[in-house]
Amino acid sequence: MMNATQTIICSNFLAELGEIIADFPSQNIYILTDTHSREYCLPKLMELSQLSGSHLITIPSGDEHKNIHSVMQVWEFLSSNKANRNSLLINLGGGVVTDLGGFVAATFKRGIEFLNISTTLLGAVDAATGAKTGINFLGLKNEIGSFASARAVLIDVDFFRTLDIPNIRSGYAEMLKHALIESPQAWEDTLSFDLDRIDFDRLRGLLASNIRIKERIVAQDPKEQGLRKTLNLGHTFGHAFESLSYTLKEPLLHGYAVVWGLVCELYLSHLKLAFPQKELTRFAALAREYYGGFRPECQHYEALLELMTHDKKNDSEQINFTLLAALGEPRVNQSATREEIFECLDFLREGC
Ligand SMILES: NC(=O)c1ccc[n+]([C@@H]2O[C@H](COP(=O)([O-])OP(=O)(O)OC[C@H]3O[C@@H](n4cnc5c(N)ncnc54)[C@H](O)[C@@H]3O)[C@@H](O)[C@H]2O)c1
Ligand SMILES: [Zn+2]
Repeated sequence: MMNATQTIICSNFLAELGEIIADFPSQNIYILTDTHSREYCLPKLMELSQLSGSHLITIPSGDEHKNIHSVMQVWEFLSSNKANRNSLLINLGGGVVTDLGGFVAATFKRGIEFLNISTTLLGAVDAATGAKTGINFLGLKNEIGSFASARAVLIDVDFFRTLDIPNIRSGYAEMLKHALIESPQAWEDTLSFDLDRIDFDRLRGLLASNIRIKERIVAQDPKEQGLRKTLNLGHTFGHAFESLSYTLKEPLLHGYAVVWGLVCELYLSHLKLAFPQKELTRFAALAREYYGGFRPECQHYEALLELMTHDKKNDSEQINFTLLAALGEPRVNQSATREEIFECLDFLREGC
């Protein structure tokens, strides 16, 4: 199930969707939504007569529902509605729906075809592409999952019009990360996007080039043996912030955790690889302006270190970081001492 996926940034959504699903009779199409994508996005799909006899299943929205119970609910629905190996599952939603739906499709009857229609910016720029599927388990993010490629990923920026501001910013965080990895030009282009007055046409263009950055990397290293690790920039600290926030019952949106993770990891890049001070200062100012301050308390430093030590990105006892020597110059498999890690957290508390 590791074929290359076609990602389509739609200009005529219904026509493009109609073409992709043309091989499937509507009784053999199953649509998975969460409560919000059902409300805001499903009506658009149902304008397509090809979907009139399709089956609909909805899970509650929220990352806490990306779990084995929801998976079982969808497996049961597929079984009792006579899905077979020739069925198509359409995942209509954000990262929760595409991660969970992709995992269901990869495992139901040893694998059926699926299509991701990403209705959040974060999903479009990250979760829906790259073939990683999965669910949370025993309190651990994405603990269970598989690599499985969607038949196609469809992105229509019009779906993002109903997203709230935090979810737009959460997605933009991953665009920033891709741009940092790519080049000074990509970084400038992304920074020039006006987050206060969103121009959806401009977003469509920016998104198209941004998604290609991830696609190019994934195509060269689908199973994350080397180059794909560059995409982990910001995520060693970021995942620890995210996990701690769940423990403290004050959940952070993924992109917010990534932005603060980027502040720490750019600071670490500055310490260890001479990443330019000017760009670090610029990034910290942007983080403050759009994502607010974030001040991990000293009493949580040990817990954050512990979370980083158990991150599944580590190959050994050492905590594994992706850092930047300069804009567009990522370095994988970097490490840091406990003192350096705490210094990054201090920088986040004081410098941001
Ligand atoms: N597979 C990967 O490579 C990968 C990469 C990054 C993130 N992820 C996963 O993605 C998830 C986060 O994705 P997300 O931010 O899209 O979260 P999400 O799917 O929970 O969506 C965020 C919120 O937006 C709502 N929503 C969805 N579409 C909407 C629309 N058009 N209008 C209004 N509201 C809408 C959702 O119901 C939810 O409340 C996490 O579980 C993360 O682990 C996976
Ligand atoms: Zn991410």
